[in-house]
Amino acid sequence: MTASPQVPRPDEWRRPKDRVDVARGAIDEVSTILARLEVRSLFLVADETAYRGSGAEDLLRSELSTRQVERFTHFQCDPKLSDVARGIQCFRQNHVDAVLAIGGGSALDMAKLVSNLGMQQEPPEHLVRGKSRLLHDGPPLIAVPTTAGTGSEATHFAVCYMDGEKYSLAHRFLLPEFAIVDPQLTQNLPPQLTASSGLDALCQAVESLWAVDSNELSVQHASEAARLAFDHLAAAVHEPTAAIRTAMCRAAHLAGQAINISKTTASHAISYAISMRAGVPHGMAVAMTLAPVLLYNAKTSVTDCVDPRGAEHVRSRIGFILQLLGSSTPLEAAKKIENLVGGVGGPTRLSEIGMGSDAEVEMLVRSVNTERLSNNPRRVTPDDLRRLLESVRY
Ligand SMILES: [Fe+2]
Repeated sequence: MTASPQVPRPDEWRRPKDRVDVARGAIDEVSTILARLEVRSLFLVADETAYRGSGAEDLLRSELSTRQVERFTHFQCDPKLSDVARGIQCFRQNHVDAVLAIGGGSALDMAKLVSNLGMQQEPPEHLVRGKSRLLHDGPPLIAVPTTAGTGSEATHFAVCYMDGEKYSLAHRFLLPEFAIVDPQLTQNLPPQLTASSGLDALCQAVESLWAVDSNELSVQHASEAARLAFDHLAAAVHEPTAAIRTAMCRAAHLAGQAINISKTTASHAISYAISMRAGVPHGMAVAMTLAPVLLYNAKTSVTDCVDPRGAEHVRSRIGFILQLLGSSTPLEAAKKIENLVGGVGGPTRLSEIGMGSDAEVEMLVRSVNTERLSNNPRRVTPDDLRRLLESVRY
């Protein structure tokens, strides 16, 4: 796995120029934005199933009928370079005034990739591999998530898979200008998708709280996101109401804002190989190791602390997470997390997903990019990782 070096300096981060708060009916704002931008030609990047199933297609039909709309809707989940290249071809065929992205994290990332890589002279594979930098900003991007999960509408990251490897692009151009988060679009989400996307939001919030790159603002967003996700995830899966869907949308969006600053840590770093190897949905793969990583980070000491603010600081963040969970010890908190993950149908043991053998555990240890672990507050050596994975083996 390889990370692109296109990491912006902190002063290059930008917030969406015009944020619409999480609110039922927020999708109506799309009309206002398109009118304000004087959009005549629109490039629509949408996950076909989500576009229909969420109700977005019906809600936007009359608005989009008044404009020239080029659609790019057929692509695989988890953006592949081959699909990005097809999207770029389509994108370049017409002058585009704005891009509208509708769907889960994959659709939003696809829109970011197509509309930004499509503006560059360099071939997309060079840009994805980080051999060239993005030099030209794409047209305004309006991101409309239909899941409460990745928070991609609030981040300057995009994921792209090439030759079976995952690449993370990070650039200020990738942050959408507009984020429309309308909980009504998530009302028909099936339980499994609600669980996997909600677990992603929960893990992003918790990891953000202890991330080395966290700051006061990211902690503010992550605290609220974690509180909302802990309180509402199980209900969102088992007995969703409009209020619960709204709470999870807010959690996911705030977690996105938090990791836009702090980035993620060990659980995310470990998850990619689990997803690729066992086909476990992203959020569920991440959540498998959230409890053991909490236990691991709770033991941060002066000798293995990576965060320059010190081990005491890390332990106080863990203490805050314990507080959110109403737990008095890391073990109790880890148990609560594990129960929550299992309770919404997520696997909690490697053996459950056919990865319990010695060989599979070794494969996981080797596949985790140690560079990705550097944002974890406690140093993680291959031996540490092996022990951590052993704890969730059976
Ligand atoms: Fe994630």
